[in-house]
Amino acid sequence: MNVALYGFMAVGKTTVGVILAERLGYAFIDLDTVIVQRTGREIKDIFQEDGEEAFREIEKRVAGDIASGDRQVIACGGGTVLFEENLRNLRISSTLIHLTADPRTILERVEGEGDVRPLLNVEDRLRKLNQLLQVRQPGYQRAADHTVDTTGKTPRQVADEVMEALKH
Ligand code: S3P
Repeated sequence: MNVALYGFMAVGKTTVGVILAERLGYAFIDLDTVIVQRTGREIKDIFQEDGEEAFREIEKRVAGDIASGDRQVIACGGGTVLFEENLRNLRISSTLIHLTADPRTILERVEGEGDVRPLLNVEDRLRKLNQLLQVRQPGYQRAADHTVDTTGKTPRQVADEVMEALKH
Protein backbone atom coordinates (compact mmCIF):
# COMPACT_ATOMS: atom_id res chain seq x y z
CA MET A 1 0.00 0.00 0.00
CA ASN A 2 1.03 3.62 -0.57
CA VAL A 3 -0.09 6.88 0.95
CA ALA A 4 -0.75 9.60 -1.63
CA LEU A 5 -0.87 13.20 -0.41
CA TYR A 6 -2.63 15.58 -2.69
CA GLY A 7 -4.29 18.98 -2.66
CA PHE A 8 -3.69 22.52 -3.81
CA MET A 9 -0.25 24.03 -4.28
CA ALA A 10 1.57 24.88 -1.04
CA VAL A 11 -0.61 22.86 1.32
CA GLY A 12 2.52 21.01 2.45
CA LYS A 13 2.39 17.78 0.46
CA THR A 14 6.15 17.50 0.19
CA THR A 15 7.08 18.72 3.67
CA VAL A 16 4.50 16.52 5.38
CA GLY A 17 5.27 13.64 3.02
CA VAL A 18 8.91 13.47 4.09
CA ILE A 19 7.94 13.30 7.78
CA LEU A 20 5.25 10.74 7.12
CA ALA A 21 7.54 8.50 5.08
CA GLU A 22 10.04 8.48 7.92
CA ARG A 23 7.38 7.54 10.46
CA LEU A 24 5.94 4.77 8.32
CA GLY A 25 9.31 3.48 7.13
CA TYR A 26 8.18 4.05 3.54
CA ALA A 27 10.08 5.59 0.63
CA PHE A 28 9.22 9.21 -0.13
CA ILE A 29 8.44 10.00 -3.76
CA ASP A 30 7.69 13.50 -5.00
CA LEU A 31 5.91 13.29 -8.34
CA ASP A 32 7.12 16.67 -9.61
CA THR A 33 10.70 15.80 -8.67
CA VAL A 34 10.50 12.53 -10.60
CA ILE A 35 9.19 14.45 -13.62
CA VAL A 36 12.13 16.86 -13.39
CA GLN A 37 14.58 13.95 -13.05
CA ARG A 38 13.12 11.99 -15.95
CA THR A 39 12.78 14.89 -18.38
CA GLY A 40 15.84 16.82 -17.25
CA ARG A 41 13.66 19.95 -17.29
CA GLU A 42 12.07 22.21 -14.69
CA ILE A 43 8.25 22.04 -14.39
CA LYS A 44 7.89 25.73 -15.19
CA ASP A 45 9.95 25.28 -18.37
CA ILE A 46 7.75 22.39 -19.53
CA PHE A 47 4.69 24.62 -18.96
CA GLN A 48 6.28 27.61 -20.67
CA GLU A 49 7.79 25.84 -23.65
CA ASP A 50 5.34 22.99 -24.34
CA GLY A 51 2.17 24.05 -22.51
CA GLU A 52 0.09 22.54 -19.72
CA GLU A 53 -1.33 19.72 -21.84
CA ALA A 54 2.13 18.37 -22.60
CA PHE A 55 2.95 18.53 -18.89
CA ARG A 56 -0.22 16.57 -18.05
CA GLU A 57 0.76 13.81 -20.47
CA ILE A 58 4.16 13.43 -18.83
CA GLU A 59 2.51 13.58 -15.41
CA LYS A 60 0.14 10.74 -16.36
CA ARG A 61 2.97 8.46 -17.43
CA VAL A 62 5.03 9.15 -14.34
CA ALA A 63 2.06 8.92 -11.95
CA GLY A 64 1.13 5.55 -13.47
CA ASP A 65 4.63 4.21 -12.93
CA ILE A 66 4.85 5.48 -9.37
CA ALA A 67 1.39 4.18 -8.46
CA SER A 68 2.48 0.65 -9.35
CA GLY A 69 5.08 0.72 -6.54
CA ASP A 70 4.52 -0.21 -2.89
CA ARG A 71 5.33 1.20 0.58
CA GLN A 72 5.73 4.73 -0.65
CA VAL A 73 4.48 8.11 0.48
CA ILE A 74 3.68 9.90 -2.76
CA ALA A 75 3.46 13.70 -2.88
CA CYS A 76 1.27 14.38 -5.91
CA GLY A 77 1.27 17.61 -7.90
CA GLY A 78 -1.59 20.01 -7.27
CA GLY A 79 -3.47 18.89 -10.39
CA THR A 80 -2.71 15.16 -10.41
CA VAL A 81 -5.89 13.66 -8.92
CA LEU A 82 -8.10 15.86 -11.08
CA PHE A 83 -7.35 13.64 -14.05
CA GLU A 84 -9.38 10.44 -14.12
CA GLU A 85 -6.57 8.15 -15.26
CA ASN A 86 -4.27 9.34 -12.47
CA LEU A 87 -6.98 8.94 -9.85
CA ARG A 88 -7.82 5.45 -11.08
CA ASN A 89 -4.17 4.38 -10.94
CA LEU A 90 -3.57 5.90 -7.52
CA ARG A 91 -6.75 4.42 -6.02
CA ILE A 92 -5.63 0.88 -6.80
CA SER A 93 -2.50 1.15 -4.66
CA SER A 94 -2.90 4.12 -2.35
CA THR A 95 -4.83 5.67 0.49
CA LEU A 96 -5.60 9.18 -0.72
CA ILE A 97 -5.13 12.01 1.74
CA HIS A 98 -6.43 15.45 0.84
CA LEU A 99 -4.47 18.27 2.49
CA THR A 100 -6.22 21.64 2.62
CA ALA A 101 -5.38 25.19 3.72
CA ASP A 102 -7.33 28.42 3.56
CA PRO A 103 -6.53 30.69 0.58
CA ARG A 104 -4.74 33.35 2.69
CA THR A 105 -2.45 30.72 4.14
CA ILE A 106 -1.69 29.38 0.67
CA LEU A 107 -0.97 32.91 -0.55
CA GLU A 108 1.39 33.55 2.36
CA ARG A 109 3.23 30.31 1.62
CA VAL A 110 3.71 31.08 -2.09
CA GLU A 111 4.63 34.75 -1.60
CA GLY A 112 8.28 35.39 -2.29
CA GLU A 113 8.74 32.15 -4.17
CA GLY A 114 9.23 33.89 -7.52
CA ASP A 115 7.85 32.13 -10.57
CA VAL A 116 8.29 28.49 -9.57
CA ARG A 117 4.53 27.83 -9.69
CA PRO A 118 3.52 28.41 -13.29
CA LEU A 119 -0.23 28.45 -12.61
CA LEU A 120 0.18 31.28 -10.09
CA ASN A 121 2.49 33.32 -12.25
CA VAL A 122 -0.08 36.12 -12.63
CA GLU A 123 -0.69 39.67 -11.41
CA ASP A 124 -3.51 38.94 -8.95
CA ARG A 125 -2.50 35.72 -7.26
CA LEU A 126 -5.27 35.66 -4.64
CA ARG A 127 -7.93 35.97 -7.32
CA LYS A 128 -6.37 33.24 -9.44
CA LEU A 129 -5.94 31.07 -6.39
CA ASN A 130 -9.60 31.42 -5.41
CA GLN A 131 -10.70 30.71 -8.98
CA LEU A 132 -8.59 27.57 -9.19
CA LEU A 133 -9.67 26.39 -5.74
CA GLN A 134 -13.33 26.79 -6.62
CA VAL A 135 -12.98 24.86 -9.88
CA ARG A 136 -10.92 22.12 -8.25
CA GLN A 137 -12.86 21.68 -5.02
CA PRO A 138 -15.33 19.04 -6.29
CA GLY A 139 -12.55 16.95 -7.82
CA TYR A 140 -10.42 17.21 -4.71
CA GLN A 141 -13.31 16.23 -2.45
CA ARG A 142 -14.34 13.33 -4.61
CA ALA A 143 -10.85 11.78 -4.51
CA ALA A 144 -10.39 11.89 -0.72
CA ASP A 145 -10.23 8.89 1.56
CA HIS A 146 -9.39 11.39 4.33
CA THR A 147 -9.07 15.17 4.50
CA VAL A 148 -6.68 16.99 6.83
CA ASP A 149 -6.68 20.78 7.16
CA THR A 150 -3.19 22.23 7.57
CA THR A 151 -4.13 25.84 8.40
CA GLY A 152 -2.26 27.04 11.47
CA LYS A 153 -0.57 23.69 12.03
CA THR A 154 3.07 22.65 11.86
CA PRO A 155 4.06 19.91 9.40
CA ARG A 156 4.55 17.54 12.37
CA GLN A 157 1.05 18.20 13.65
CA VAL A 158 -0.33 17.54 10.18
CA ALA A 159 1.71 14.32 9.94
CA ASP A 160 0.26 13.25 13.33
CA GLU A 161 -3.25 13.80 12.02
CA VAL A 162 -2.55 11.87 8.85
CA MET A 163 -1.15 8.97 10.92
CA GLU A 164 -4.33 9.01 12.97
CA ALA A 165 -6.50 9.08 9.84
CA LEU A 166 -4.62 6.10 8.42
CA LYS A 167 -5.76 3.97 11.37
CA HIS A 168 -9.38 4.31 10.28
C1 S3P B 1 0.28 22.08 -10.35
C2 S3P B 1 0.98 22.03 -9.18
C3 S3P B 1 2.44 21.84 -9.13
C4 S3P B 1 2.96 21.18 -10.42
C5 S3P B 1 2.46 21.93 -11.59
C6 S3P B 1 0.93 21.94 -11.67
C7 S3P B 1 -1.19 22.26 -10.29
O1 S3P B 1 2.74 21.00 -8.03
O2 S3P B 1 2.60 19.84 -10.51
O3 S3P B 1 2.94 23.23 -11.52
O4 S3P B 1 -1.87 21.98 -11.30
O5 S3P B 1 -1.70 22.66 -9.22
P1 S3P B 1 2.69 21.53 -6.49
O6 S3P B 1 1.30 21.37 -6.01
O7 S3P B 1 3.65 20.62 -5.79
O8 S3P B 1 3.13 22.95 -6.52
